[in-house]
Amino acid sequence: MSARRAPQRGLALVDLDEQGVDRAFRADVLEGLRQEPKAIPARWFYDERGSQLFEDITRLPEYYPTRAETEILQAQGADFAALVGPGRAVVEFGSGSSVKTPLLLQAIAPAAYVPLDISGDFLRESAAELAAKFPGLPVYPVEADFMRRVALPPEVEAAPKLGFFPGSTIGNMVPFTAVDLLREMRATLGEGSQLLIGFDLVKDTEVLLAAYDDAAGVTAAFNLNLAERINRELDGTIPLDALRHEARWDEKLARIEMHLVASRTITFEVDGEPFVLAEGESIHTENSHKFTRRSLATLLLSGGWTPLDRWTDGAGQFAVVLAEATRPRRAP
Ligand code: AVI
Repeated sequence: MSARRAPQRGLALVDLDEQGVDRAFRADVLEGLRQEPKAIPARWFYDERGSQLFEDITRLPEYYPTRAETEILQAQGADFAALVGPGRAVVEFGSGSSVKTPLLLQAIAPAAYVPLDISGDFLRESAAELAAKFPGLPVYPVEADFMRRVALPPEVEAAPKLGFFPGSTIGNMVPFTAVDLLREMRATLGEGSQLLIGFDLVKDTEVLLAAYDDAAGVTAAFNLNLAERINRELDGTIPLDALRHEARWDEKLARIEMHLVASRTITFEVDGEPFVLAEGESIHTENSHKFTRRSLATLLLSGGWTPLDRWTDGAGQFAVVLAEATRPRRAP
């Protein structure tokens, strides 16, 4: 995830076949192409080229979320310090970004930093970077799939915890999955812990669409790279010239969807299996949910987290929320 790379598979946790291809990638792609409508999970965007393209996206003039969230983290350090207090173990879900994580760490005087990532490579890279920036801070990287409860290192067992999940990565999950994740985070961190989490906000449709369909075509290249990856790794024969990137706003579900749309009817194979994509039909490749003050609070509460405070950037485009894992009371 990682100027916010989505969970990726690294050497230790990945199950590679004889050709060195991730078995889960093959299974997800084949299953997704057999469905109607066709859909492939967004996490498969992030091979090496996809991760680089995502870094490029975060610097695009149209892509406001990274700048807006960084502005909040820069401006609200004193508030975070007052509400979070010193001496917490900061547990980041995904390998730390080189910009956002240091802003938090320098604001709150933590006792330790624990990055969690499924990719050992990203994890080691970002842990080494952070350790160099904060020489006195103990860093305990854990290679794990944070979509499930993670056993934290014994060294941080006694410390109060602060989870950190920036980037509005939560928005890439449907609410059903997002609630599961929030509950797993609660199980990982424990009751009484806190969570600092980023949410992209509902706004003008034009602004949203531009952020996911930029003039320079970087987001289009990011989306198309998934088809290129399928051709490269799964013996795919998808005619790339017949696919175009499309970003759509779904008002009812409050989300941007990314699709790869066929500009003519195409037939192709993946892993020896034939598929047809009719003219105008698409492969749905990503959801990016956008939130209101109320919808983000409902999501957090459903996952066992009570919002404590909330900050937005000057333009009101993005929110960072501090929440607490309070004891659930089943009756008033
Ligand atoms: C990683 N994630 C929060 C990004 C987003 O905005 O949903 C991924 C992305 N897709 C297209 N542009 C950026």
